[in-house]
Amino acid sequence: VIKILLTGKTGQVGRELERMLATLGSVSAVNREQMDLADPDSIRATIREQAPALIVNAAAYTAVDKAESAPDLAMQVNGVAPGIMAEEAKRCGAVLLHYSTDYVFDGRQEAPYEEEDVPHPLNAYGRSKLAGERAIAAVGGAFFVIRTSWIYSAVPPNFVLAILKLAREKKEVPVVTDQIGSPTWARSLAHATAQLAAKALAARDKAGIYHLSAGGYTTRLAFAERIIDLAKETTGDPNNWAVLRPVTTAQYPLPATRPLNSATSKEKIRRVFGISMLDWESDLRRYLQAPSALPHEEADRR
Ligand SMILES: NC(=O)c1ccc[n+]([C@@H]2O[C@H](COP(=O)([O-])OP(=O)(O)OC[C@H]3O[C@@H](n4cnc5c(N)ncnc54)[C@H](OP(=O)(O)O)[C@@H]3O)[C@@H](O)[C@H]2O)c1
Repeated sequence: VIKILLTGKTGQVGRELERMLATLGSVSAVNREQMDLADPDSIRATIREQAPALIVNAAAYTAVDKAESAPDLAMQVNGVAPGIMAEEAKRCGAVLLHYSTDYVFDGRQEAPYEEEDVPHPLNAYGRSKLAGERAIAAVGGAFFVIRTSWIYSAVPPNFVLAILKLAREKKEVPVVTDQIGSPTWARSLAHATAQLAAKALAARDKAGIYHLSAGGYTTRLAFAERIIDLAKETTGDPNNWAVLRPVTTAQYPLPATRPLNSATSKEKIRRVFGISMLDWESDLRRYLQAPSALPHEEADRR
């Protein structure tokens, strides 16, 4: 059996990966206490001790707005730690799978972004994630960087859970009309990641950056509308849902600037590995209907 080291097991994607990767080998899932990404020594010590054949890094500093006032910590966790993992992976001959983001782009391009399009992040989080990609590339090895987007799951915080909550609490909820992306269910991403991991172990020469998120694109507003329409169906309650009020990004300022069009093309991973994900609307429906999809008790997820 192959030894797999997984980080970020309490996160949206990590939690799903812990189950999904078990189909490939024996998974050692570590939390922040066991391996702190802000502490290079703990990263090195853990990887040397475990000597895994595969490392999947689902841990990251993901609070996009908070990163504006904590850029150094975001950079340490997202920018520096991945490079250290890459060095250690190279040292023990492991394949490394790491996640990056559509927020490495500035969103000014009209066409969906391809892997080789020039990144130009607009916020501290995006800059830290781009630094992580570059640190991994600088080490050079069997490293696969998955750029994904707009993740939701049973683990808060995420856009779907926020909309479901606000739509019950408020009469009116402002949602932006001019940000475009691919909403992605963490469970489906974990499934596709496990497929990639299995193939990557036998195709180290295919290392590089791959865009991977649900099929299709939408705006934040159309996504929110679909969430509420489907929630009306699944709850059987058509009443007492907030009205969504369209706003532009400029009318709704947040600490971190978001890219407007961060749609990505997922053609490369389909062409190279034959991997593609379901369209975002079908997956959203599956998520809202899955009994284990919505939040559990806090105790249950730790
Ligand atoms: N969420 C999105 O919409 C989105 C979009 C594009 C790309 N991504 C990328 O996809 C990946 C997974 O994201 P996610 O949404 O699953 O993240 P998440 O739910 O925020 O989970 C982050 C995980 O990282 C861990 N972590 C944070 N700081 C750490 C540290 N210093 N040391 C060790 N562990 C630490 C957290 O542990 P604790 O529980 O201890 O905090 C948690 O397990 C990340 O690389 C992210 O950048 C996410």
